[in-house]
Amino acid sequence: MKQFSYFVKLNLHSMKLITLLLGLSYCLSAQDTYLKNIVKFPLGASVNPRMLNENEAYRNIAKEEWTSLTAENHMKMMLIHPAADRFDFTKGDEIVAFAAKTGKRMHGHTLVWHNQVPQWMKDFQGDQQAWEELLKNHIQTVASHYKGKMAGWDVVNESFLDDGSLRPSLWADHIPDYIAKSFQWAHEADPDAILFYNDYGQDGKPKKMQAILDLVSDLKRRGIPIHGLGLQMHINVDSKRNELQEVLDKSVATGLKIHLSELDIAVNPKNNPDFVYEEKVASAQAEQFNFVFKSYMMIPAAQQYGITFWNISDKDSWLRGYFKRPKEYPLLFDDNYAKKPAYTSLINALHSLN
Ligand code: G3I
Repeated sequence: MKQFSYFVKLNLHSMKLITLLLGLSYCLSAQDTYLKNIVKFPLGASVNPRMLNENEAYRNIAKEEWTSLTAENHMKMMLIHPAADRFDFTKGDEIVAFAAKTGKRMHGHTLVWHNQVPQWMKDFQGDQQAWEELLKNHIQTVASHYKGKMAGWDVVNESFLDDGSLRPSLWADHIPDYIAKSFQWAHEADPDAILFYNDYGQDGKPKKMQAILDLVSDLKRRGIPIHGLGLQMHINVDSKRNELQEVLDKSVATGLKIHLSELDIAVNPKNNPDFVYEEKVASAQAEQFNFVFKSYMMIPAAQQYGITFWNISDKDSWLRGYFKRPKEYPLLFDDNYAKKPAYTSLINALHSLN
């Protein structure tokens, strides 16, 4: 009898232990279902304030999945500085408030760009000094407004053409040395912000890559504050890994922080109207995501500013609207905001590296 009650006690004990272990493993696997828990650097997406307001699924992913946010459009010149004497911070502020409420880092995008420039700037007439005043006022008003709320800024975006020459733009045409001046002005307005030069498509374009590296050396030599390189990473399933790796290696060699700042992986880059997103291409895309994350995880922790996806679900991607390419599926969440197999594949691939 005594032996029987001992046996029962022992089994109760083991059952409790098993329940505890099961509970623990459930908690662990629930946590592990978030990519952000696997990586040791900030993980984010660019967002759109209208979607944050109107769409619960979108808002939940923004809240649960990411640790960093970027405004996809609402801090760009055209939207934030609609008239010469008027700034409109409303939408940018909404994103910053959402980030603060949900405990996320904010990354600023972008102070100076040739694109999405308001009409009044395009029509502006003035000498070099007047142009400098315009740009300085723009940069410093925006950077001061968000001072203390932004971890970093894309100060200058996309200044070089594929052949490495300086892209003609309002800024290049009217302000000699506008890149260096922009970094200086941004630093004066927000000395704690990490300042980035951001660009795309360096893979397979050695002259463009070299122009960026030369810019970094030049700014450093002159003591101009530049702290990071944004590699946009608008890539596709066929982007060559050796070329992507080379871009990453050369960027890391500058010693600056590296931000994979606008990641998406196109599966239908040629905009085939009959394209079908079937298993084979989806798994090639998953492999490409795994490659990007694994390579990034290999760089020194001090240089990992983070990885940012360019918006949240396939449905929200700029690639569909901008290129009129309805059959494009470049992100980790599908049109119904469900995790795609690429998400789970990433978790599994990265687990082994931790
Ligand atoms: O909001 C207007 C709407 O009122 C109007 O009816 C509609 C008609 O075209 O346009 C809407 O504006 C669009 C805006 O996105 C908001 O959706 C613009 O036309 C469209 O050109 C704009 O595209 C943005 C693009 O930058 C502009 O070049 C994309 O959303 C945005 O994802 C994209 O982001 C850039 C990064 O900033 C820099 N790197 C490249 C990246 C992709 O192009």
